[in-house]
Amino acid sequence: SPCGEIAHGLEDVLIKTTSISDIDGERGILWYRGYRIEDLARNSTYEEVAYLLLYGKLPTRGELDEFTSRLAKNRDLNPATVEVLKNLAYAHPMFAAEAAIATEGAFDDDNRKLSESLRTGKYGDEEKALAYRIAEKLVAKMATIVAYHYRLSRGLEPVRPREDLPHAANFLYLMFGKMPERLAVRGLDLYLILHADHEVPASTLAAQVVASTLSDLYSSIAAAVAALKGPLHGGANEAVVRTYLEIGDPSRAKSIVEAATKPGGPKLMGVGHRVYKAYDPRARILKDFARDYMTKYGDRDNLFAIAVAIEQEVLSLPYFRQRRLYPNVDFWSGIVLYYLGIPYEYYTPLFAVSRVVGWVAHILEYWDNNRIFRPRACYVGPHDLKYVPINERA
Ligand code: CMC
Repeated sequence: SPCGEIAHGLEDVLIKTTSISDIDGERGILWYRGYRIEDLARNSTYEEVAYLLLYGKLPTRGELDEFTSRLAKNRDLNPATVEVLKNLAYAHPMFAAEAAIATEGAFDDDNRKLSESLRTGKYGDEEKALAYRIAEKLVAKMATIVAYHYRLSRGLEPVRPREDLPHAANFLYLMFGKMPERLAVRGLDLYLILHADHEVPASTLAAQVVASTLSDLYSSIAAAVAALKGPLHGGANEAVVRTYLEIGDPSRAKSIVEAATKPGGPKLMGVGHRVYKAYDPRARILKDFARDYMTKYGDRDNLFAIAVAIEQEVLSLPYFRQRRLYPNVDFWSGIVLYYLGIPYEYYTPLFAVSRVVGWVAHILEYWDNNRIFRPRACYVGPHDLKYVPINERA
């Protein structure tokens, strides 16, 4: 090209330094703030991980209790947001989430105050405290938004959040209106832990691009939700389960996988990753949980068996091996959510319920050294064309 090297899709472009999360794509390792994802999955809760990502260290017991209680107190939505959700009850929940987050932001006084300070170039300790307060509200409210949309879409009355329940249990309670079963809470908590951050994928970049203009935190998160919605990003988990259900039986796995290897064929959802060139460590943890769950409750609609059959094909066919395409987190996450009784249009919204903490952590990190994102494009069209009046054009 006349432009030299183009970083198509910004592949491998470094946009900042970070100490939030790190991925070793070659070896398939993920760390949050230096801790291995396996350790966090085994030992912590979503609240603890959210604290770690936001504040940079594991909380003490007292810090965690206070953080948990602040999240619980921030769960309620503005009545205007509930109205928006009612109006969008029959829209895809990702549209509703975009609109609901923007609505919360429009009516949050802290957000208005922070935006005014930022506009005048003030971002000191007081403003940072305000930003963290908003960050916690976003984490708390995203869960309510998604659960409320579910209820409204089914013609059910939303139930009030329960301050005494942890994040994952409260979410299931809000969705289904009854106390969730222990293993279901564990499954959702695991899902939330594993999706909480992942360096700078498209949605996290989108959040920071918007935040870099000193727009506001809620608008930045609405942009991230919009980016997550796409099937090449967060939307893949929904597509994965739809595909498995269509396959219906493990014996039909092979033909679906082979179709994805044909030139111009459909991509196999839940496989491949821009950064991981190895088995996604999050996928492994969710696979183990799915196995435990189905051992106890049975393999609903054969999903585990179908996934195992697809995985075997993917791991053995030269097409995937040569391109180093392995199952990614979505390959197994959809199955876990399916077992928990969550309808598949809520899988991507649940991704947002978890990832919102990563998005705000990255925005706050970026704001410590803010510079507006403004890349360039290499123009390859003509210049100085002669303007022809409209009635003289051929
Ligand atoms: N099925 C079949 N072929 C694939 C797949 C797939 N899932 N993924 C990549 N390839 C092929 C691709 O066609 C290309 O082949 P060739 O070299 O012959 O042209 C080669 O592998 C390299 O792929 P790429 O398109 O350059 O890879 P990318 O880094 O641009 O895309 C991806 C990464 C995740 C968008 C892609 O692998 C994909 O579309 N996967 C399916 C969707 C999916 O599961 N997304 C979830 C990602 S993980 C969670 C998240 O980020 O939200």
